[in-house]
Amino acid sequence: MRRPVYLHYDLEALQGALLTAARMAIADRGMCAIALAGGSTPRALYEAMAQPPMLSALDWSRVAFFWGDERFVPPDHPASNFRMAFDAWLRYLPQSSCFPMPTMGVSPEDASHQYERTLRSELSLRKEEDLPIFDLILLGMGDDGHTASLFPGDFALEEQARWVAPAVAPSEPAQRLTLTLPVINAARQVWFLVKGASKIDALHQVLQPEPGKPLLPAARVKPVDGELLWWLEKGLDAGLQEKSPPTGEDRF
Ligand code: 6PG
Repeated sequence: MRRPVYLHYDLEALQGALLTAARMAIADRGMCAIALAGGSTPRALYEAMAQPPMLSALDWSRVAFFWGDERFVPPDHPASNFRMAFDAWLRYLPQSSCFPMPTMGVSPEDASHQYERTLRSELSLRKEEDLPIFDLILLGMGDDGHTASLFPGDFALEEQARWVAPAVAPSEPAQRLTLTLPVINAARQVWFLVKGASKIDALHQVLQPEPGKPLLPAARVKPVDGELLWWLEKGLDAGLQEKSPPTGEDRF
């Protein structure tokens, strides 16, 4: 696993980095597969990507959008991660392919199998491990160190065979669907977008875990050979530099 890279959360930098990642994927493989994060933090980035210069900065028809997790609610529900990203960004793209996690007329169990079939048909696979490869997975992190819908103590966190699993959140909407750790860790790039002082304790536990204590879900995101970037709101990184040995990659 490569050393994580720590960057200050900055919308302009994020926009540029996202365009670069997409351009590289399209140049290499003709398309870019991005799994979007839910929650509230990514909305500002999605809205920034929906500004005119961005809409013409890329052939968006070559980008396929997926979701890293979903609340098991209708796609027009205020809590839907699909709705948040669609309303903030995707509705403005001239052409793109959207693959939301199914949440209507299907059980969470069947929905997870259905989404796995979608991933299998739309994404290139890492043959030896039979895993789908995303070019970029965007993730948030909760105050408890959860990410996507992988929550401490939930069975989905331990899932090692399935690509998509039903999950249960400690807050409503409790029923979720989520990509599993093997899929997240097979990605070419994984970016955490973290804002909010309430997350500082979890962040420190994730980035500098105490020996002998169980790892928080976000700490178990360790891309096998992909890049891991932490986009951290200024102030959240306080104290981190002293402990992480200064290398060119830390980039604070
Ligand atoms: C969700 C997300 C979840 C989110 C974190 C952080 O469906 O809510 O997948 O993992 O990223 O809870 O949420 P905020 O960005 O709202 O702090």
